[in-house]
Order: sequence, then structure tokens, then C-alpha cells
Amino acid sequence: MSEGLQTVSYIGATILFILSLGGLSNPETSRRGNWYGIIGMTIAVLATVFGPRVTPQGYAWIVGAMVVGGSIGLYAARAVKMTQMPELVAIMHSLVGLAACTIGFASFIDTSTVFATAAEQTIHEMEIYIGVLIGAVTFSGSVIAFGKLSGKISGKPMLLPARHFLNLAGLLAVIWFAYQFLTAGSIQAGMLPFIVMTVIALLFGIHMVMAIGGADMPVVVSMLNSYSGWAAAATGFMLSNDLLIVVGALVGSSGAILSYIMCRAMNRHFLSVIAGGFGTGGGTVAKSDGVAPVGEVTPISAVETAELLREAKNVIIVPGYGMAVAQAQHTVYEITKLLREKGVNVRFGIHPVAGRMPGHMNVLLAEAKVPYDIVLEMDELNEDFPDTDVAMVIGANDIVNPAAQDDPTSPIAGMPVLEVWKAKTSIVMKRSMASGYAGVDNPLFYKENNRMLFGDAKKMLDEVYTALKA
Ligand code: TAP
Repeated sequence: MSEGLQTVSYIGATILFILSLGGLSNPETSRRGNWYGIIGMTIAVLATVFGPRVTPQGYAWIVGAMVVGGSIGLYAARAVKMTQMPELVAIMHSLVGLAACTIGFASFIDTSTVFATAAEQTIHEMEIYIGVLIGAVTFSGSVIAFGKLSGKISGKPMLLPARHFLNLAGLLAVIWFAYQFLTAGSIQAGMLPFIVMTVIALLFGIHMVMAIGGADMPVVVSMLNSYSGWAAAATGFMLSNDLLIVVGALVGSSGAILSYIMCRAMNRHFLSVIAGGFGTGGGTVAKSDGVAPVGEVTPISAVETAELLREAKNVIIVPGYGMAVAQAQHTVYEITKLLREKGVNVRFGIHPVAGRMPGHMNVLLAEAKVPYDIVLEMDELNEDFPDTDVAMVIGANDIVNPAAQDDPTSPIAGMPVLEVWKAKTSIVMKRSMASGYAGVDNPLFYKENNRMLFGDAKKMLDEVYTALKA
């Protein structure tokens, strides 16, 4: 393939990637968006493999690598559960970081490129240094994020004394070694500062993510997503590959925008997330750093729940992580259909960080074929709760916690929440009194108009469905 044809293919792929991002921003167009991405990536890979820089002797290596990588990817995609998706994403980001590092070292020791001027060579070396720096932080940070999300490493923030000082010292060392690296004059002399910087960057990545508490992990994953984009862009500079630069920048900036949106949804400042320290391992014993709620909870049975739903005119369903765990989305939709046939206005309220990944609930509800027009964002229906007869919370906890509004000492104070307690009756479906991801107690459970339907969400909803049909 000629260079001209490769450039045209790269431009086509870039346009498809931009269309893909646009498509993915809306559930109705997301399928199409995915296809644009798949076609764009296929064109990009073919144009690179058959491009002028790959010699036919390289084909066997490339095909071999694609078979091995593709098989691992296919297996991972099939084996991973929906609730494990953030872990998979984290470990994938680590591979982008690792690729940037290995390509950086390979470019440094490769002497085949001849530079016209010394300035050109220095710019190339700077690209290598920055690329490996970002790549190493992304690699080690993502591995730790994977460990935390999969529960292999504790979700508790590890806060070293003088940790900000350590980070600053690391930054100054990286700048000092950059100077040593750029003025070394030979590969042998430059290798030591280069390796020392890589080790510092790896330690920095570990330290940065270890300091972040469980409750902030969603932001960290999208932040690492952004870093992996910048690492790819840096790799593009090292290899003089325009497509990689553009795609890396797209991933980098969209990851940064997503981090910002998630910070806003959790009422956290980006810098305080990076500074770390919020949240616990999450999800076991209900405890609170704020004021512990008092009172008794009122249990309700599946049959009584069905009665309340049958008599209601307006129902809002708030799904959370527990619905994903129980795989209850299909039964939820069966109940929704039944109620809608009886003339009940049923809508779904989706919190931006419900579940364990952005769009988690939307994906599950789409899978169960719930129509998009009754699935609304938190801001679109939060004002409607006072006119709602029944707010049914299915396996959600933090996202419906009134302490976020009422208790300034609560660790989740200020996080926007779905105000289900303003409905005539709220019903919370979960297995126990355990806390949610942020590890804080929930005063909603003790409110007078709240009922607790204890049990596995799928099992309880099956019972509600049977009672509704009877
Ligand atoms: P959580 O606050 O984690 O609450 C989920 C609740 O589901 C738990 O309290 C649990 O109570 C219940 N549950 C678990 N399995 C169940 C089952 N089989 N049947 C019924 N209930 C079950 O979830 P949420 O309200 O969706 O809030 C999300 C939280 O995760 C937020 O704190 C958010 O910041 C965080 N987070 C979000 C993301 C993204 S990007 N969305 C990523 C990581 C973390 P029981 O154990 O008593 O059943």
C-alpha cells in the first residue's frame, strides 16, 4: 500500500472514530457508534499492517501476535461478567501503558533513524521520555486499580506520611533525570537516567492509586482511561504515526471529560480525588463517619409490594448495583410491562454513577429491552418524586442516601442523589442492612414512609411478579 493510500485510510478511520464517540453518547445510537468504531479500527489496522513501513518478513510476527492477542481478548470478553467490566477496562489500560513503555525503549535503542539536525534528535528523545513517563504511570496505576476493583487489594486508601512531599520529590527527580537523559550524548550514557525515571514513574503510579479510596475508584478508572489515551498519543509521536496521535488525543480528552462528569455526579473535586483518601473497602458492615441514623425499619412482603404497585398511578424504579448482581433486569421489565398494561405510569430514574461503571444501568435495561423513553436521567425526574406513589429501589444504596443532603459530616455529603424518600412510599429491595460501595449507613431505611423488601432482587421480583399476575 502506498503512503498516499495509507494517509487516506487514516483520515477515514479518524472520521469513523469521531462518529463512533458521537454515537456512543446516546443509548439509541450506541450500537451504530460501536460499528463505526469496529470498522474504523479494522481500516486502521489493515492500513498499518499493509502500509509502507512494514516489510513482508514482518507479517508472520504480526499475524502471530494478532492471533495470540485476539484469542486472549475474545476469551476475556466472553468470560467477564458485566459487573467485572471496570476491572477488565483497568487491566486493558495497563496494556496501553506497557506498550508505550516498550515502544519507548525500543525507539531509544533503535539507531536506524537518521536525524537531520541535533534539535530534531532532542525532540525525538523528549517524546520518548514523556511517552515512557506517562506509559509507566498508566501501567502501574492501572494494575493497582485492577487489584482494588477485583478485591485483590484492599479498597482502603493507603496514606503514607508526607505523601505529597514524596510525590513532589518524585516530580523533581523526573525533571532532573530528563536533563541527564537529554544531555547524555549516547545510548549507553542515557540508559541509566532513563531506567531510573521509569522506576520512579512506576512507583508514582502505584502510590497514586493506592492512596485513593474505594469510593473514588470510578473516577480513577476514567482518569487512567484518559492517561492511556495520552500514552497512545505519545507513542504516536515516537513512531511518527498521525493516526495514533489523533486517536490517543480523542481517548485522552474524552476520558478527561468523563472524569469531570463523574466528579460532578459524586460532588468531588478532581484534585481531591487525586490527593486521595476517601472511601473504604465498601459493602459489608453498615457504618458511618457521619451521624448514625436511629429508629426501626419496616419490612414488607412481596405480596404487599405487589398490592402497593397495583394501586399506584405513578411509579419510579431506581436500579442500582444489586440489580446487576442479581441479574434482575428482565423480571423488572416483565413487571413494568404488566403495570403499564394496567395504566400505571412507570419510569426509571438513573443516577450517573449507579452500579459500577458509567452507563451500567442503561446497558442492563437496554439488554432487557426496556424502551428508552421511560429511562430518564436523575436530573430529569428528581422533581417528580413528590407526585410519585411508589419509588421502588432495586439493589441501590449510596445513590438514594438522604445523608448526602442532610448530614454535612457524611463522607458522601453533597453528592447529588435520587430523592426517593419524597415519594408517598419508597420500597428498598436488598438482602440485608449492609452498606453500599461508599461504606456509609443509609437513613432512608429508617424513614416512616419507607419499606424494606429483604432478599435477593431477582427472587423478590419474581415473587412480586407472580403476585401481580394473580
Ligand atoms: P451501592 O451503593 O453499592 O449499593 C448496592 C446495594 O445492592 C448494596 O447495599 C447491596 O445490599 C445490594 N445488593 C447486592 N447484591 C444484591 C442482590 N443480589 N439483590 C439485592 N440487593 C443486592 O450501589 P449504587 O446505589 O448503585 O451506588 C453505586 C456506588 O458505586 C456509588 O457509591 C458509586 O460511587 C460507586 N461506584 C460507581 C461506579 C460507576 S462508574 N457507576 C464505579 C465504581 C463504584 P445487600 O448486601 O444488603 O444486598
